[in-house]
Parts: sequence; C-alpha cells; structure tokens
Amino acid sequence: MAKLNENYLNLKESYLFADIAKRVAKFSEENPDKKIIRLGIGDVTKPLNKTVIENLHLAVDEMSDEKTFKGYGPEQGYDFLRNAIKDYYNRKGINLEVSEIFVSDGAKSDTGNITDLFSVDNIVMIPDPVYPVYVDTNIMNGREIVYIDANKDNDFLPLPDENKKADLIYICSPNNPTGACYNKEQLKMWVDYALKNEAIILFDAAYECFIADDSLPTSIFEIEGARKCAIEFCSLSKTAGFTGTRCGYTIVPKDIVFKSSNGSDMSLNQMWNRRQTTKFNGVPYIIQKGAASVFTEEGMKMSKETIDYYKENARIIANTMEECGINYYGGINSPYIWFECPDNMGSWDFFDKMLNEIAVVGTPGVGFGKNGDGYFRLSSFGNREATIEAMERFKTLFK
Ligand code: MLT
Repeated sequence: MAKLNENYLNLKESYLFADIAKRVAKFSEENPDKKIIRLGIGDVTKPLNKTVIENLHLAVDEMSDEKTFKGYGPEQGYDFLRNAIKDYYNRKGINLEVSEIFVSDGAKSDTGNITDLFSVDNIVMIPDPVYPVYVDTNIMNGREIVYIDANKDNDFLPLPDENKKADLIYICSPNNPTGACYNKEQLKMWVDYALKNEAIILFDAAYECFIADDSLPTSIFEIEGARKCAIEFCSLSKTAGFTGTRCGYTIVPKDIVFKSSNGSDMSLNQMWNRRQTTKFNGVPYIIQKGAASVFTEEGMKMSKETIDYYKENARIIANTMEECGINYYGGINSPYIWFECPDNMGSWDFFDKMLNEIAVVGTPGVGFGKNGDGYFRLSSFGNREATIEAMERFKTLFK
C-alpha cells in the first residue's frame, strides 16, 4: 500500500491566498451586484513594459524559424540572462560568477524547493509573521520549526538570539507582510550568527526593488561573510510585473561548502545544480528574453516608473490610515501597508467586515503567523482608481 506523506496532516486546510480566494468567490456569488476591489494578494495590475513586450515578440518570432528555434534550454538559465543578472549585481558592487546564478520560475518555488538540499533533521528558524511558503514547505518535509517573534516592540525586525539555535534561517527583507527592512548592521548580526552556528540563511529579496532608502541593503551579499552562509532568492514578479509570466533567480555562492558525514566536501552550489538539472527544465526561452530586457538601462527605467506608480498607491493607503487614526507600518520600502485592525478586532473578523461592508479584499495578518493576529495587510499593486475607491470606502467604516 502506498504510504502518504502524513506531514500534510499538519498543514492548515488551504494555502492562505487560496483560502482568501475561496471566501471572495463565495461572497461574489452571493452578491453579484457588488463591485469587489482586490487589495489582497500582491498581484500586479500594470502590464509588462514596452521593452519586455518587444523582446517577447522578437523571441516568439525566433521560435517560428528553424534557424533560431530553441528546444530544451540550459536548466540554469540562458547565459544572456545570467550575465544580465550578474551585471545588475555588479552595479551594486557585488561580484558573482555566472555559475552562481540560477534562473527560476520565481522565488515562491525556489524558497520551497531549496529544502531538497537539507536533511529533515535541520531546525528551521522562521520569523512570525512572514510569507507562508517557508512554513508550509517545511511542514510538508516534517522539519522542526522555531519561530522568532516579529512585533512592534522590535519594529518587526527580530534579531538573532544566541539561546535560540537553528540550522536554516529564513529572512525576508523588505518583509512580506510587514514592510520592515533590515539595515546593514542588523543583517550583519544575522550573518555573524549563521557563521558562528554553521547555519544557512535563506534570504528572500523578492521586494528589493521597493527599497527607497539608499543606505538599506538590497542584497544579503552586501554584507561581509554572507557568501559563506547565505542563499538569495529574487523575482521579477514585483520588479517588472512577471507574476503571470514567471521568472526569478536564485544565487547560490560557491563558497558554501560543508563536510558530509563521511568527510567529503559538499557544495551547495553543486547540489543545487544537480537538483535543478534533475527536476527542472528551465524557464522558457521567450520569457528569459523578455526578462533580460528588464536589466537594460531602458528596462530599469520603465520598471522604476511602474514601481513609483505603486508607491503612490501605497502613499494613498497610508494617508487614509492616518486620516482614520490607524497605526500602520510599511509602504515606504515595500508595496504593503500593514496596520492594526481597529477596535482590537481579530484579523479574520476585520477581513469579513471589509468584505461584507465595503467589498474590499485585504489579507488578514494572522494568515502570516500568530503574531499577525489583530493586523491586516493591504497591497499597493491595485490600479490607481481602484485604490482611491477602496480608500474612500474604507473611510466609511469609521463614520
Ligand atoms: C503576497 O501577496 O504575499 C504575494 O503576492 C504572494 C507571492 O508572491 O506568492
């Protein structure tokens, strides 16, 4: 008889955003006349920019001609894109080898897939609240999780505690959902902790392009020592609107080498390469062509214009919070506004109130962990009109 992975019994019934989608679908069915505004999942609304679209078209044409047609591509990504990413890091003062860069279909997949490289008896440290993929994928594997509290007392930026040991540490900065962003000194504390404890940091930089303050690190590799203890995940989803087109990248430095139980060297870079060549056939050529144009001067300029548009939405949401006397966080170095639910309401109660009374969808903070209860997240990725309309409706809750 087949034995199933019973770790799945330890998961919540559904993934956070699937759960929200189900509730919203039910509400929509029961209230067909209500115009729902969705500021829940961080899905972008602006189309891919002109240079990406042009390159996608060119790549489609290449696929129609036998001379330029592409079949299987390199599992690690085409060199033209890996080199574009290498140059992008170079401009930040970070030197990478092309073979340390693995093109992926997004940070969501890779922050989960990376667990393949680690034994199940590692202890995983995960901030609470945080992006639920880290918790769920490690529960699926049956790994022990220790949570570190992120709350307003530590500005939602927990720091290492020598009394709490872990082998794998997830860090998301700028943080999803709170919008908090570590500075260099704080990240250095994490790197030092990891080096001292021979732990690995799994650094999710999916929102790095929202960092407005030049003094804040956009990559863990800005921190001395990180090449020996950190893997970085990044994505073009929020940077350039690839949520539906799917393209990201993972950086696995060659300096991370551990001794196996029989004394041989094990390189995480080689292991990830081995894993990807076995389980992944790469991102489609057409998509990689579009993605490469994001890193050109023109592409970066266009992405920035779109990010500025979302930031203006964040400002509109933040202003509304101020007007309503609500304590909020984020929105400066992040696309999310994280706020305290009014009248000490629980997150799901506030979710229901918003949906039922004003037909606006947000994300209940408790969906990101127990410390998120009593908080709520709004996304700035809606279009301008919808964001303004949602905030007008929001204010009516307080009249
Ligand atoms: C979110 O809303 O937290 C993100 O859009 C989810 C994701 O990136 O997978």
